[in-house]
Amino acid sequence: MSQTAWWASESLWRKSAIWVTGVSFIFLIYLTFDTLPYIKAGGTNVPGFSVINKRIDYQYNEAKHRYLPVIGQDEPLFGKMLTEAEAEALVSKGKLTTQAKNCMECHTLLGNGAYYAPDLTKAWLDPAWGSKETREADMVAFLMNPTDKLHNSIGRRMPNLGITEEEAKATVAFLKWMSAINTMGFPHNFKPLDQSDAPAAVPAATAPAAAAQP
Ligand code: HEC
Repeated sequence: MSQTAWWASESLWRKSAIWVTGVSFIFLIYLTFDTLPYIKAGGTNVPGFSVINKRIDYQYNEAKHRYLPVIGQDEPLFGKMLTEAEAEALVSKGKLTTQAKNCMECHTLLGNGAYYAPDLTKAWLDPAWGSKETREADMVAFLMNPTDKLHNSIGRRMPNLGITEEEAKATVAFLKWMSAINTMGFPHNFKPLDQSDAPAAVPAATAPAAAAQP
């Protein structure tokens, strides 16, 4: 009677399968918990909701070789400082609005969604809003009635989705909060709105290249 080689034994392969499944399972649970501090609001890469009370800038980080969000001085959204709880309620309402109106049918949020319209991850920082003084009102007006072609050359228009003013403001809060998330440089080649307080006429100190122009 022929003897089965050790490597061909059924019990060895059964035990291996059980061990591999078990160890992978434990490892995945570990990775899940290891990731949470990075992805939860108030964690390493995602700021708490009250960040909407602050100026959110986006600057090139020489050491990391990529653009990263920079949280600056107080700059409350719609002129009102909110507590963490109030900010969370507002941002959540904005998120629910984006889900209810299915913005991802056309847009991407953090890279997820459809490619018909611009990515909204940094929409808050889009230079197309013109200036940081008028941006909030312009965003609300655009969301409620996006009939005017905003800026880009994609030749597409956003339809009127019947968004109320309350929903539009909450959506702007959601977009402002999202722009503060460290997305490791995504989207690439995005140049943010100038939010410096210095008048645009004297950019010499910050932008030598512009000063060199006639
Ligand atoms: C049917 C497709 C469609 C849907 C749905 C849609 N959008 Fe848009 N959106 C567009 C298009 C197209 C543009 C570009 C319009 C332009 O530049 O004039 C745009 C532009 C925008 C902009 C300006 C983007 C920028 O780069 O500054 C914002 C903000 C925006 N949409 C938010 C939303 C939100 C929030 C929702 C969901 C409530 C939504 N959109 C749903 C098509 C859509």
